[in-house]
Amino acid sequence: MLGMPLVARISERSTGLLHATLALVLFLFSAAAQAQPADAALYAQGEKLFKGNCASCHKPDKDLTGPALKGARARWEGKGDIYAWVKNSTAYLKTGNPYANELFAKWNKSVMTAQALQDAEIDAVLYYTDNYAPPVGPKPPTDPNPEPGTSVSNWPWLVVIALLLLIVGISLSGVKRSLTNAVLEAEGKEPLPDMTTGQKIRNWAWHNKAFASIIGLFIVVFLTLKAWDAAWVVGVYGGDEVEHYKPEQPIKFNHTLHAGKVDKGNLAINCQYCHSSAEKSKHAGIPSTNVCMNCHQAVAEGRTPEGTKEIAKIYAAVGWDGKAYTGKPEPVKWVKVHNLPDHAYFNHAQHVAVGKLECQECHGPIDEKMDVAEQWAPLTMGWCIKCHAEKDVKMAGNGYYDEIMARLEETDMGHQELKKYLEDEKISVKELGGWECSKCHY
Ligand code: HEC
Ligand code: HEC
Ligand code: HEC
Ligand code: HEC
Ligand code: HEC
Ligand code: HEC
Repeated sequence: MLGMPLVARISERSTGLLHATLALVLFLFSAAAQAQPADAALYAQGEKLFKGNCASCHKPDKDLTGPALKGARARWEGKGDIYAWVKNSTAYLKTGNPYANELFAKWNKSVMTAQALQDAEIDAVLYYTDNYAPPVGPKPPTDPNPEPGTSVSNWPWLVVIALLLLIVGISLSGVKRSLTNAVLEAEGKEPLPDMTTGQKIRNWAWHNKAFASIIGLFIVVFLTLKAWDAAWVVGVYGGDEVEHYKPEQPIKFNHTLHAGKVDKGNLAINCQYCHSSAEKSKHAGIPSTNVCMNCHQAVAEGRTPEGTKEIAKIYAAVGWDGKAYTGKPEPVKWVKVHNLPDHAYFNHAQHVAVGKLECQECHGPIDEKMDVAEQWAPLTMGWCIKCHAEKDVKMAGNGYYDEIMARLEETDMGHQELKKYLEDEKISVKELGGWECSKCHY
């Protein structure tokens, strides 16, 4: 008699706790969701425009040559025309707008250069800076297109929530149990039997089916995301377990910026402008700083103050004082990224000039997403011979083989068979001897 209301009260308490937990979970989710901007496309457009036009003087969240742009739109509300300002700040200062002139004075009269942007583009930039969230996770995506890997960055939340649910659930059932036992004892009945942890969890799950299935769902989602992550790393990024060795270089040379596509705001310099021996010799070679100076004698400023500092290192290396060569040149000590063991022989000309392979087939998207050069392929023997088994030798229009054909033509009829075979059939590198040990081993 005495027990019933007590048990009822306990279960009421526990539903209260349950509600509190669910509210907490919802809160955590909405907090995680807030980290993502509402309009991802606009954000990406703004980010691109910002990086191309404003990042040399502004950061979204910190002062640089100009003020942090986060909240700028709000600061201008009712005080002036932010669009006119961005398009031509010098002209706008002449209108005598007090806020603009105050700003100009505060920033030591540094001039903000005129920006050739449309209103809609300015909107995008301001949307980006207002909603700017510092990149989370190990590596911020370098291009605005969503990469499959980025969605994984939420998984720590899922783990936290699942653990939280589990702890709250188990302790709730523990409290409930001991109180029930107290009640049973008071009524002179047998207490509930002792259970092992496994039994307890199963018993708890049985009595809390909804709760248990939520946790189960979290665990499944978590494992799926992890599996996806792993598949992405293995499948898309190299095709084999690769360590992506990526040493820090004495000058932060950026391949994406120099060799990437023009429509992505890069310079699209041909690989062989710098690695000029790739066609002619065993080594592709690393350019001397003189090659850098072909451009950097005139280009002293990078896209960011950090970039400008890196360019200054080129000047230090070649002994350039901005007007003349004064000091003694000191070669830059680049750290080698690729290292084949000495017993293996690899020749660039054979692959680039004769094999007609693109650099990217072996070095990956260095011009698209490697701000820092990294080893992309595994460089194992398995990797070499796998390609040799799959790749057909490119015969048509290949000077090297045209020459062989011409010679076959000159000689006797016995070679017609071979000539026909060479013309009609696909021949893999392997069939031409690309699996012979001595071709790759000294
Ligand atoms: C060459 C450097 C430079 C570039 C490039 C530049 N700004 Fe500025 N910006 C400044 C400086 C400096 C100020 C501070 C006012 C002044 O001294 O003119 C400023 C001020 C501003 C302000 C006012 C901020 C506030 O707190 O009210 C806005 C908005 C702004 N810039 C937007 C932009 C946008 C958008 C871009 C790119 C499209 C851009 N700026 C590119 C230098 C620059
Ligand atoms: C403006 C000059 C320049 C251009 C253009 C350029 N590179 Fe490089 N590359 C360098 C320099 C300097 C290094 C050494 C520093 C480093 O590793 O980042 C280098 C390093 C490399 C490495 C690593 C070498 C090692 O140490 O094992 C590879 C691979 C590479 N480049 C491939 C390419 C490919 C492919 C392209 C074209 C898509 C290209 N590079 C375009 C200058 C250039
Ligand atoms: C068939 C695969 C393959 C292709 C195609 C290829 N490379 Fe390489 N590259 C390699 C390997 C393997 C190494 C490591 C060589 C070593 O350590 O001896 C390497 C090393 C390099 C290096 C380091 C310096 C050197 O010469 O060893 C540079 C730079 C480089 N490659 C640039 C290029 C460029 C630029 C192209 C395109 C014009 C290119 N590679 C095409 C496989 C390739
Ligand atoms: C064909 C011209 C050209 C060559 C060759 C060249 N660069 Fe550049 N580099 C540029 C330009 C242009 C910029 C500025 C990009 C901008 O502001 O949009 C730049 C920017 C840079 C930056 C600053 C990057 C940043 O994030 O701001 C560094 C560092 C740099 N280059 C290093 C090198 C080195 C090292 C070499 C030689 C191995 C080299 N560059 C060769 C044209 C070149
Ligand atoms: C992406 C494909 C690819 C990879 C990876 C590759 N090769 Fe090759 N390799 C070729 C092609 C294509 C040829 C044929 C060139 C020709 O037409 O003679 C070739 C030819 C060769 C030859 C000359 C074979 C002969 O019969 O004369 C050697 C030696 C060689 N490769 C070594 C290597 C080594 C060592 C590696 C690994 C470090 C490697 N290759 C990785 C595609 C590749
Ligand atoms: C297409 C080029 C190629 C051919 C053909 C080739 N190898 Fe290799 N081999 C390599 C490369 C590259 C390495 C270095 C791989 C590494 O360091 O992981 C290697 C490594 C090795 C190693 C050392 C393995 C280790 O773990 O260090 C042995 C042994 C070897 N090869 C034997 C052979 C034999 C035997 C043959 C002929 C049946 C052969 N290779 C044919 C490219 C080749």
